[in-house]
Amino acid sequence: MTDLRIGAIGCGYWGPNLIRNFIEIPGAQVIAISDLQQESLDRMMQRFPQIETSTRNYTDLFEMNLDAVVIATPPATHYEIARNCMEHGLHVLVEKPITLNSRDAADLIKVAEANNCVLMVGHTFEYNSAVRAVKQMIRDGELGDIYYIDAIRASLGLFQTKANVVWDLAPHDISILRYLLDADPISVSTHGSSCVQEGIEDVAYTTLTFPNNVLAHIRSSWLDPSKQRRITVVGSKKMVIYDDVEPLEKIKIYDKGVKAIRRTDTFGEFSFAYHYGDVVIPYIRFDEPLRVQCQHFLECIREGKQPQTDGHNGMRVVQVVEAAQRSMKSAGDTVLVNSNGHGDPADVRQSRELAHA
Ligand SMILES: NC(=O)c1ccc[n+]([C@@H]2O[C@H](COP(=O)([O-])OP(=O)(O)OC[C@H]3O[C@@H](n4cnc5c(N)ncnc54)[C@H](O)[C@@H]3O)[C@@H](O)[C@H]2O)c1
Repeated sequence: MTDLRIGAIGCGYWGPNLIRNFIEIPGAQVIAISDLQQESLDRMMQRFPQIETSTRNYTDLFEMNLDAVVIATPPATHYEIARNCMEHGLHVLVEKPITLNSRDAADLIKVAEANNCVLMVGHTFEYNSAVRAVKQMIRDGELGDIYYIDAIRASLGLFQTKANVVWDLAPHDISILRYLLDADPISVSTHGSSCVQEGIEDVAYTTLTFPNNVLAHIRSSWLDPSKQRRITVVGSKKMVIYDDVEPLEKIKIYDKGVKAIRRTDTFGEFSFAYHYGDVVIPYIRFDEPLRVQCQHFLECIREGKQPQTDGHNGMRVVQVVEAAQRSMKSAGDTVLVNSNGHGDPADVRQSRELAHA
């Protein structure tokens, strides 16, 4: 089996994590890195001296007989770079969000098909063994009917200047919710506030309705004193908290619940039977999610498989963010998630402008 030849585009904050993983996974070789910033390239060359080539122009990678590229540049640039790479026959793993509007995401899906390329988006949490364990519990009926899910992703920073906190943080939670519930949300309502930078929301509250009356809520914030990455799933039988900040005990299963029992003596009144059982912390074998994600990308290239987080998965998440954006602009009005059409032409224009800003 010959090694797959990988190029990395973008080595700012997140790119080096992808580069490290592709270097460490057997069966892949990182051949070249591209970034607009010479200092970032110099840092990479010091850290990974085995990589021979670095370049400021990513199109130089087209001359290096690569199989695939991994793109960790700012979101506004994803569409143009991913499209160009696939048109040159390269398989693409692009960071989240896949694009800043769903029309561009749909176009990338077409370009991938036309060029026989694997197109995968870095929704890392779908490769996280704790998230997968929660999904298994839901699937096995261990939690009963799901009533609601609450997601929090908050810390101080990292502030962005070209995209708000919903574009930056919510894609992770939207991808987790879709994955856990095996469904797309029907509607979204988002309130946001721009506390630090004018016009760029740094805190947002998004309420989503899923089929079967399942309610979900996402709190996204760059302006919070403590780092929180927590998902609470409340079911009719049990409740689960997945806390990604916990180093070892990431999942706690609470055998807790309450039943409303109709009283026979007074018409229409209820009494409540509370149940307090054990709290179980299951052992979860933890493999680095990013490693699992990168391995899956390589496997999809080798076996011609569709990735779990393929272009369609990326586009669905973008459609939810688009609905959240529209809602936020209209002070939290409920907006239907448009899973058939593609956002507002003004959004497309705005994201193209951002790419060249
Ligand atoms: N999966 C995750 O958990 C996770 C975490 C953090 C960031 N991300 C994603 O990773 C991506 C990058 O985020 P970041 O925080 O590393 O941003 P960053 O700004 O720190 O780094 C982006 C780098 O891309 C480079 N770049 C920009 N345009 C380029 C071009 N045309 N060619 C080559 N290089 C170019 C910049 O010079 C910069 O070094 C974003 O899409 C972000 O959403 C994902």
